Amino acid sequence: MNLILLGAPGAGKGTQAEVICSKLHIPAISTGNIIREALKSGTKMGLAAKSYMDKGDLVPDEVVIGIVKDRLKRPDCKNGFVLDGFPRTIPQAEALDKMGVQIDKVVEIHVSDDRIVARMSGRRVCEDCGVSYHMLYKKPTVEGKCDACGGTLVQRADDHPDTVKARLKEYHTKTEPLKDYYDKQGKLVIVEGQEDVADTSRLTLAAIEA
Ligand code: AP5
Ligand code: ZN
Repeated sequence: MNLILLGAPGAGKGTQAEVICSKLHIPAISTGNIIREALKSGTKMGLAAKSYMDKGDLVPDEVVIGIVKDRLKRPDCKNGFVLDGFPRTIPQAEALDKMGVQIDKVVEIHVSDDRIVARMSGRRVCEDCGVSYHMLYKKPTVEGKCDACGGTLVQRADDHPDTVKARLKEYHTKTEPLKDYYDKQGKLVIVEGQEDVADTSRLTLAAIEA
């Protein structure tokens, strides 16, 4: 199954992508994680993306389209994939169509802006593998350490409240029009994000399997 997860920053796309992937045995492709990895390794692309990310702006379409095009060619995508954070603009969605990629379902995880701002302050991510945790809602077993790999948990640079507001603005102006784009194709399903990760997972998996 080829899936897209839509949703505001912090809506829980990455968290649900993990759940879907372990259930369906397909890879999650997070453009945000790929860009952060590139930045950590000091590649030209990563460094060029930094100034956009730090401000909460979207990275230029041609950069992310190139990333996804390369990633989808890898053999692990042949039985399906979950796109987390891509497409984020109409030109990105059109580029995906042009690649000949058939999308089965687009799941929007809907969470209000107020709840997003409150949630982001508690997020911590593993600096080694990128898995995300929450100080209240998804605590690691050992404080400050990743359950998956033992890496150190840190706060993301773009989770500062002002940057979160800029990211929400980008989302509403540039990404939200994609709901209409996919609704017209009969592919959009909306899941109301809950204040509990497991409850949201149940609703998300039910929406995918329906
Ligand atoms: P990206 O990394 O994709 O960030 P984002 O979309 O802003 O989304 P997040 O990763 O912040 O949140 P999420 O929805 O995955 O939520 P999570 O599961 O972590 O992109 C970052 C930047 O990269 C962009 O700003 C842009 O510059 C660039 N970029 C990336 N893709 C791009 C593209 N296609 N085009 C252009 N630029 C691009 O959950 C959030 C927190 O809440 C966690 O702490 C989690 O534990 C907790 N939580 C999750 N679910 C629940 C729940 N149900 N109840 C309570 N807490 C929960
Ligand atoms: Zn880890």
